[in-house]
Amino acid sequence: MDRLAIIGGRPLFGEAPISGAKNSALKVMVASLLTDETLTLSNVPRLADVDMLMRLLAQHGVEQSFDNGALTLRARNITSTEAPYDLVRKMRATFNVLGPLLAREGKAKVSLPGGCAIGARPVDLHLKALRAMGAVIELDEGYVLAEAPDGLHGANISFPFVSVGATEHAILTATLAKGETVLSNAAREPEIADLADCLIAMGAKIEGAGHSTIRIEGVERLHGAHHEILPDRIETGAYVMAVGVTGGELFLKNARLELLGAAASVLADAGLEIIEEDNGLRVKRGGERCQAIDIVTQPFPGFPTDLQAQFMAMMATSEGVSGIKELIFENRFMHAPELARMGAKISVDGQTATVRGVSRLKGAPVMATDLRASMSLVIAGLGAEGQTIINRVYHLDRGFERLEEKLSACGALIERIKGEG
Ligand code: UD1
Repeated sequence: MDRLAIIGGRPLFGEAPISGAKNSALKVMVASLLTDETLTLSNVPRLADVDMLMRLLAQHGVEQSFDNGALTLRARNITSTEAPYDLVRKMRATFNVLGPLLAREGKAKVSLPGGCAIGARPVDLHLKALRAMGAVIELDEGYVLAEAPDGLHGANISFPFVSVGATEHAILTATLAKGETVLSNAAREPEIADLADCLIAMGAKIEGAGHSTIRIEGVERLHGAHHEILPDRIETGAYVMAVGVTGGELFLKNARLELLGAAASVLADAGLEIIEEDNGLRVKRGGERCQAIDIVTQPFPGFPTDLQAQFMAMMATSEGVSGIKELIFENRFMHAPELARMGAKISVDGQTATVRGVSRLKGAPVMATDLRASMSLVIAGLGAEGQTIINRVYHLDRGFERLEEKLSACGALIERIKGEG
């Protein structure tokens, strides 16, 4: 397994291009299952998660080619309606093939994602939405068996709490269901509007994506289209926070301020200057160190849970005491003990972490535990004194495109060590 070695303490200067959003690309790719015509996507990031979904789609019979960010997908014939455990277990987003396969072929068998037990809570909202549209669903030996003997129909679906994945799954499925579907308490993440834009280009009738009530009028069939994936707001936020730790000045090409939601004002309050320019954002740190700020993670437009780990790394060397409350996921402070190995002063009590800023972290060997947590260790390492070695880099490869290349080009000393780790 590869490792990353970072020698910290150098300010970042230069231009970092922001890639297409992973979390949008993964859902938009699934939309290819809804038509027998060609869907062409541009600005698709080349990431391990995208490759994994391509493997799953190939298994369903989707012809594909990927060239320089342009991904062409054609599901001329669905050759299999089964999504096996091996291809679904590593990534939850793969579960979203269930509804589209059901809508197009009338049946599907999809493994439950991510090693969760049968009937586990994490896909209950997805199944609730599909059942409301007429799917007959059984759980058997870790698989969801779904059928729509009389076809799918529109439904009023009110989500008890906000779920990005369940909202997207319901939209994808409802495009081909007969009649009108109304989603209430839907997620409002920018990736949802991006998915809807792609589906609308394919002939779907969707109103309100990006708001908490979404209406979808089912159509007989969808057709081919071209869609450009929006820029990655999580990658954007991570690079802004890297500047918060190292100082310097970066131009984040393609980044868009409005995609940051509440994170934009939090970062400004912490002392980062984020200036909108043509085709990107310029970022500088106002003072010698950032200021401590309290945050609570919330669905969009609130502060995103996917930036919480990186924010904690930035707070570790900010001035003052920061309270970080994680309200979306129950166990998302795995980076705290790793940051503590580098000298961060963090105490965790249930869903709240308290970070007392120190003037400098010290490089250390650390373990990447999940995708966003890994990026928090990179950020911490960039600001730390001496060398940080990050083990289990494959997590980063799932979600941050050309990370070492982009950071090196801006003056960071970061390199990949191939092999065991
Ligand atoms: C998506 C993002 C992920 C981000 C998350 C929250 C992708 C590929 N992933 O994940 O990066 O961290 O949104 O912004 O886009 N839940 C249930 N039952 C369900 C569905 C979800 O209980 O049926 C719970 C989850 O366990 C979690 C919360 O709802 O506690 C929010 O999850 P959700 O918004 O669905 O996240 P994902 O779509 O999985």
